[in-house]
Amino acid sequence: MNRRSITYMFLGGLLLLLAIKTNAQNALNKVTEAKITSVMKKMTLEEKIAMLHGNALFSSEGVKRFGIPEVSCDDGPLGIRDEVLRFDWKSAGWTTDSATFFPNGSAIAATWNPLMAFKYGITLGKEANARKKTVMLSPAFNICRMPLCGRTYEYYSEDPYLNSQLAIQSVRGIQSQHVAACIKHFAANNQELDRSEVNTIVDSRTLNEIYFPAFKAAVQEGNAWSIMSAYNKINGYWCSENDFLLNKTLKDKWGFKGVVISDWGGVHSTVAAAKSGLDIEMGSGGPYENWYFANPLLAAVKSGEVSESIINDKVRRILRMIYRTALSDNHPVGSIATKANSKAAYEIAAESVVLLKNDQNLLPLKKETIKSIAVIGDNATRTFAQGGFGAGVKAKYEITALAGIKSRFGKVADVKFAQGYQANYSAGDKDRESKNYNEPNQNLIDEAVALAKTTDVAILCIGSNREYESEGNDRKNLTLPFGEQALVNAVSAVNKNVIIVIMAGAPYDLNEIEKSNHTIVWSWFNGSEAGNVLADVLTGVVNPSGKLPFTFPASLQDSPAFALNTYPSQNLTANYSEGVLVGYRWYDTKKIKPIYNFGYGLSYTTFSYKNLKVIKKSGKQAIVNITLTNIGKRAGAEVVQVYVKQEKPTVERPEKELKAFKKVYLKSGESKVITLSLNQASFSYFDEKKNDWVADSGKYDILVGSSSADIRSSKSIVL
Ligand code: BGC
Repeated sequence: MNRRSITYMFLGGLLLLLAIKTNAQNALNKVTEAKITSVMKKMTLEEKIAMLHGNALFSSEGVKRFGIPEVSCDDGPLGIRDEVLRFDWKSAGWTTDSATFFPNGSAIAATWNPLMAFKYGITLGKEANARKKTVMLSPAFNICRMPLCGRTYEYYSEDPYLNSQLAIQSVRGIQSQHVAACIKHFAANNQELDRSEVNTIVDSRTLNEIYFPAFKAAVQEGNAWSIMSAYNKINGYWCSENDFLLNKTLKDKWGFKGVVISDWGGVHSTVAAAKSGLDIEMGSGGPYENWYFANPLLAAVKSGEVSESIINDKVRRILRMIYRTALSDNHPVGSIATKANSKAAYEIAAESVVLLKNDQNLLPLKKETIKSIAVIGDNATRTFAQGGFGAGVKAKYEITALAGIKSRFGKVADVKFAQGYQANYSAGDKDRESKNYNEPNQNLIDEAVALAKTTDVAILCIGSNREYESEGNDRKNLTLPFGEQALVNAVSAVNKNVIIVIMAGAPYDLNEIEKSNHTIVWSWFNGSEAGNVLADVLTGVVNPSGKLPFTFPASLQDSPAFALNTYPSQNLTANYSEGVLVGYRWYDTKKIKPIYNFGYGLSYTTFSYKNLKVIKKSGKQAIVNITLTNIGKRAGAEVVQVYVKQEKPTVERPEKELKAFKKVYLKSGESKVITLSLNQASFSYFDEKKNDWVADSGKYDILVGSSSADIRSSKSIVL
């Protein structure tokens, strides 16, 4: 039997399995739908309405007499949050709700590895089961339109394709554990300033090309069972009562069969919201019977303003979700804060760290020659699982940078700590902006300098923290806070082996550091294992392979929302006038040089790209082949990125757009032919007139590289 027939047999087998699985799934779906029909026939209108709104902070009603449990949900992106009281945000005081703290959203995105998003999802799903939650309010992947957005750390990226690939896998991972993922926040919720009032004006091409793709992919390819409507308005209508968004796009066009859950307190009406596709109203405080989707909705049905068929559709969706989760067969028991879950957090974190600069090859540190280390900076001893307004995690443990470095170096080097700066900032403090939180603390700087003078290496742990980057607040500027630059300058003047480690979840102004320092590592809010991972990166046990999921602009003024003066919003209107030119699409098209480009990140090894072949396939499709070789001395991973540029577009198109990528692990000296596929979608733009995607015939450049700016090889094809 030749190789081709073996391949065909294998593929045939796979298709047969798929067909059997699909048939079994269809049969199961039929059984479930029949069960739902039978339950619904016996339900009263009051029982149905009770299912459509919260009955406590994180739950909505089931139907006890039929054994249908409450829908029990919980945040959120960083891991499962600690249990709060049923009717109050205060801690419930449990001793069994310690959990795994996962790397933040932009850290997961920096892995550029959908498998890591899948790993995150599975593990989060397990932890949700251990806490008996049926819906995880995660993942969150609003586009990073504007670098100051307070929730950038929770979200993934500025690029819709990278966003989509990660979102699909996070959802699949969570739901593989019979827990519903609630993808959020739908849609165009890209700033925290005025988030509950702002009206986002955005054209349909931009929605379809930039703000919708990850949601669409998570629904159609990830099969997400629930989605959260955002706080803001889109084109004049609240997202929770937006017929275009929820009915026409999500449910009709994309075929979403799941549940639309409002963001907490994000509902503004009864009839409009009910008719526009919202299924469950959630919020923060009672009396629950007065909520829009409680007594007022019951009255609206009785008066005929809202038909019962609309209510039935919502109830059916909710029951479907309950049968897929809490009432599913073989429901897993789950596990929380176990060693295996920590291992998953470690593995994700290990792929997320981005090496920004290493131009004197100080890293990886040579353990044999280092006898003393100064670890400097408030962030070296700070934990990031909690803080600010965003959902936090009661981490079972969190290894700080200092603890990680001590555990890896304690026996061979003398490790000493100096605080270096004071992080006097609280997200909840209304007067926070009038306080001098950016003033350097000279005493702390002097102490740090005195220490750094005596050591072989100084590791400066700076950046922000969970108070400074927070839900509900956008940052005011890109400046590193707390007088950190003064500390960096002072320490760098007395020690030539300074390593800058930045813990943060969003872009900052690194102009000065990039100019004056030689060694820069970006380490995110990297979860329970952050300190161990950092130390393993510094010693070379882990070879960094993270790539930036967003651009670091050289100045705020360079970024589209600022260049076009559309942030802060005027009269509560955020005009997305940059259109599809978000992130690198803007910087590249406008030829603005950022500090760090989208997709950028170094390794301790180097890779060569050779023999690019672009093979045209039938229709508007192509296969990209490139030979990647690890030409350095260490094993490592590279993210091969494929960008597409249309040569003579008939409409304005970005300079180039990411359309495929693959993370590849290679031993030193190893070579692999990497194959990536481009399909019609890779060449298409959204044509507003046709209200559809169009792929023009003509010439396209296929650009293959290591970042959006570091294109190693390119070829043109005519479609
Ligand atoms: C946030 C959501 C979160 C919800 C419940 C809202 O303020 O926007 O992301 O899931 O609170 O905690």
